[in-house]
Amino acid sequence: MNPAPVAPAASAASGPLAPHPSGHDTVVVIDYGAQTSQLIVRRVREAGVYCEMLPWDASAAQAAALAPKAYILSGGPASVYAPGAPTLPSYVLAAGVPVLGICYGMQLLAQELGGVVVAADRREYGPAAVTKTAAGVASPLLADLPDPFPVWMSHGDHIDAPPPGFTVLGASGNAPLAAMGRVAGATAPIYGIQFHPEVAHTPQGATLIANFLFGVAGLRADWSPAAFIEEAVANIRRTVGDARVLCGLSGGVDSAVVAALLHRAIGDQLTCVFVDTGLLREGEAQSVEETFGRVMQIDLRVVHAADRFLARLADVSDPEEKRRRIGTEFVRVFEEATEALGAVPFLAQGTLYPDIIESATPERKAARIKTHHNVGGLPADMQFRLIEPLRYLFKDEARAVGSELGLPDEIVWRQPFPGPGLAVRILGPVTAERVATLQQADAIMRAELHAAGLERAIWQSFAVLTNVQSVGVMGDGRTYAHAVAIRAVTSVDGMTADWARIPYDVLARISNRIVNEVPGVNRVVYDITSKPPATIEWE
Ligand code: XMP
Repeated sequence: MNPAPVAPAASAASGPLAPHPSGHDTVVVIDYGAQTSQLIVRRVREAGVYCEMLPWDASAAQAAALAPKAYILSGGPASVYAPGAPTLPSYVLAAGVPVLGICYGMQLLAQELGGVVVAADRREYGPAAVTKTAAGVASPLLADLPDPFPVWMSHGDHIDAPPPGFTVLGASGNAPLAAMGRVAGATAPIYGIQFHPEVAHTPQGATLIANFLFGVAGLRADWSPAAFIEEAVANIRRTVGDARVLCGLSGGVDSAVVAALLHRAIGDQLTCVFVDTGLLREGEAQSVEETFGRVMQIDLRVVHAADRFLARLADVSDPEEKRRRIGTEFVRVFEEATEALGAVPFLAQGTLYPDIIESATPERKAARIKTHHNVGGLPADMQFRLIEPLRYLFKDEARAVGSELGLPDEIVWRQPFPGPGLAVRILGPVTAERVATLQQADAIMRAELHAAGLERAIWQSFAVLTNVQSVGVMGDGRTYAHAVAIRAVTSVDGMTADWARIPYDVLARISNRIVNEVPGVNRVVYDITSKPPATIEWE
């Protein structure tokens, strides 16, 4: 969720340019709306096989364009026998390639092929153990798994009778038909499993997925950051020719990786613009300049605009008004900086795969809660063609690509950061002095979490400058100074979060240092609220 400085532009002259990675054996996951559908895609890619997700109501042509060598059907919240439930697209079985149905996906296969799906007496949710049948012991799908093997179940329906031609491969206490397969006959193998191999709670899930990909479907494992870079570079060169490309750097991971990739592809045809709003964390603006300008020698135009942003924020306390003003000012500054460059036909953005698929499945569209508010839409009259080379990557893959391209860890592992920056971590008015106070407190927190080795376990951690003053005593004197709140959360996607259980001694060091080293702060509190009901940011 690292905001690129420019939001997807309605004004783009044509659709985004990012050809599908081609030439790889591809698996398609048909999405029925489970929370874990994306995880299936990630697990397949972690096994080295290229994988994409399509909503269950995608057209046959969309699927055919990917030429899948295997299909995986995801889980989902519906019951296959309910009226209007999502169905199995006819092209899946017609393709004649191996199919693996997971949970809802398995039940769909059962129903479609003549089995019986019923509501279970009680919902099964949580750990279970699957015991192999004799056929299961011999099955390539369950090879190298212990017997019984631990799995994670989450279902309300189960299969009472397998479809004709299917063999039961495994059973759990509550699901007598936990795994089934049809391997005989002229058609490609079809498997169904009631449990979720994609979640961490199924410890040998990766083995099962690898069994399907390699043992059953015989696919090639040729998907890697290095392979991605090679293809992306070739694609970018083909698309761009000798034209120039503009890339806005936000200081975040995604735009940084895009810039590094484009630089690898087209060298000095790339110009990056970085707007230093003065609202970044301590040292981050310098690290962008240093990395991209001095080390990578990218044509980097840095606009130091802190004064302009502070002037626009003078006396503004309302969070939404802060966002609005920063957004408007950002567009102005960006526009001025790019005007000076003359006509640049292409604009590169760090859009990632989850941004694309999250709104693709009907069930998912309805469940979507996030309404994010990025800084800076593009000015309406700017005409660019968009290049989104990371469009098919997950964040962890984008990070791996960044590392492979030589970006330093401090950029590759940067936490998500809100577009409006520190302005939404300063309650009340934003002044140069208050920004400096927050930067100091925030830097101490970061340094101590780094020293304690806790950084990577934490999704986001930061300090917040509150607008509360309280009484303290320092030396022999009474103080009346500001309270800083510190916040650290664990999360997988920022949509929900829990406060991090940081050891007391680390909290103690952070608190002592902030109160002793940051002028004007005499109290530190730790925010112990989860999201929901709170949000991660304070504003
Ligand atoms: P909240 O505070 O809504 O934040 O729990 C969820 C995630 O989004 C980030 N965030 C923002 N990102 N523009 C952004 O690009 C914003 O205005 C913004 N506000 C919050 C936040 O840091 C967290 O990762």
